[in-house]
Amino acid sequence: MFIVLGVTGGIAAYKSVMLARAFVEAGHDVHVVPTEDALRFVGTPTWEAISRNPVTTSVHDDVPEVRHVALGQRADLVVVAPATANTLARMTAGIADDLLGTTLLATRAPVLVAPAMHTEMWEHPATVHNIATLRARGVHVIGPEVGRLTGTDSGPGRMTEPDRIAETALALLDGVATPEPHVAAEPETPAPAPAPDAGETRAILDLDGMSMLVSAGGTREPIDPVRFIGNRSSGRQGVAIAVAAADRGADVTLLAANIDAAILADVEAHPGIAVTAVSSADDLERELTARAESADVIVMTAAVSDYRVDGASDQKIRKEDHPDGAPTLQLVQNPDILQGLAADRWPGQTIVGFAAETADSTDELLERGRRKRERKGVDLLAVNEVGWSAGFEQEQNTLHLIDAHDDVLRTVSGTKRQAAEGLLDTILRVRVR
Ligand SMILES: Cc1cc2nc3c(=O)[nH]c(=O)nc-3n(C[C@H](O)[C@H](O)[C@H](O)COP(=O)(O)O)c2cc1C
Repeated sequence: MFIVLGVTGGIAAYKSVMLARAFVEAGHDVHVVPTEDALRFVGTPTWEAISRNPVTTSVHDDVPEVRHVALGQRADLVVVAPATANTLARMTAGIADDLLGTTLLATRAPVLVAPAMHTEMWEHPATVHNIATLRARGVHVIGPEVGRLTGTDSGPGRMTEPDRIAETALALLDGVATPEPHVAAEPETPAPAPAPDAGETRAILDLDGMSMLVSAGGTREPIDPVRFIGNRSSGRQGVAIAVAAADRGADVTLLAANIDAAILADVEAHPGIAVTAVSSADDLERELTARAESADVIVMTAAVSDYRVDGASDQKIRKEDHPDGAPTLQLVQNPDILQGLAADRWPGQTIVGFAAETADSTDELLERGRRKRERKGVDLLAVNEVGWSAGFEQEQNTLHLIDAHDDVLRTVSGTKRQAAEGLLDTILRVRVR
């Protein structure tokens, strides 16, 4: 297969020599396309010797071969490793002022990028936006990992090790025979637009071997055999998390509280997800307790009723039985399931809660979130703002992710699938601390 390896100007460029070698040793025709800055880190002779192909950065070399588009057109796969913040920005904008830029625009092959940069650069809103945009276009992103960076500092931003990039790249190549559409709808600025989920599927199995328990939907507390106290949670966000986690290799159990069959369709077709239906908070607690111990990560997106009816009627309540007025419902508190899971967790287990809150400002929303995270004792709390026109039953979501130090680690916006990917990335980050 014809692999283009883009290399950009970061210290990790030296590691990509091993990546080029892995591709060559796997029998592929490797064409390294460095940027000018990359050549300051590792020079042309190294790339040519390892790849056994000529190397240039310029669109003006080999003009008769129309090299500026030929490489991209011939490629079965394009890998950019390391991908600097600058190159990710250029990719997002479609800038084509060197051979790597033109190659990336000319290709219809899968593209895998391995970002590497300091944490501040990785977490800058510009980079966050660029990555979300690239993902929504179908670009595959691997890493970055948390670890030692160029200087003495460490944090998220370290390039994934070459052997893992090679493994993922070769898995993508295996899928080349039946390519997915490469282009999905472009997100808007600043939040990603309602792109269809096509193209967002990631082949990166970074949750491989992880057991994940996800609750989704909304509980129903019976009043009588035909009526209940419920809530507006559709289950879409939890379903998106379950599917994204299973796509990334996790072994997922979804506890589905009253979720519409159409929303569950994606889950039921997925071989990596087992679904159990629950209805009331009591059901949910029972099913969670039975499975909690074997889960590495528990994500509680289900909206659980704080109260249930004390002594729900086993017969339908009829108006004629209350000629003097309406019946009175006596409510009692349900157990706090999330708090219980957090209190009982084993070392290494990660508990993630969700809080749908109303607030007049983001500051107030985050303050409520921080208080709730502390009360529940969870490792990560995803807070989203809800109201009659926000949060529920929508395709879009914004999640503020608060960790055990009360820091907002990330705010993820976009489709519920994009929010799910951001949440999963953040769970991985919290787990390696
Ligand atoms: C020693 C050194 C290390 C650098 N490491 C990185 C890095 O890891 N990630 C990054 O985004 N930029 C890094 N930079 C900055 C980039 O080299 C710079 O933004 C450059 O314009 C990138 O160009 P390119 O994307 O065309 O290769 C580094 C610069 C220096 C001098």
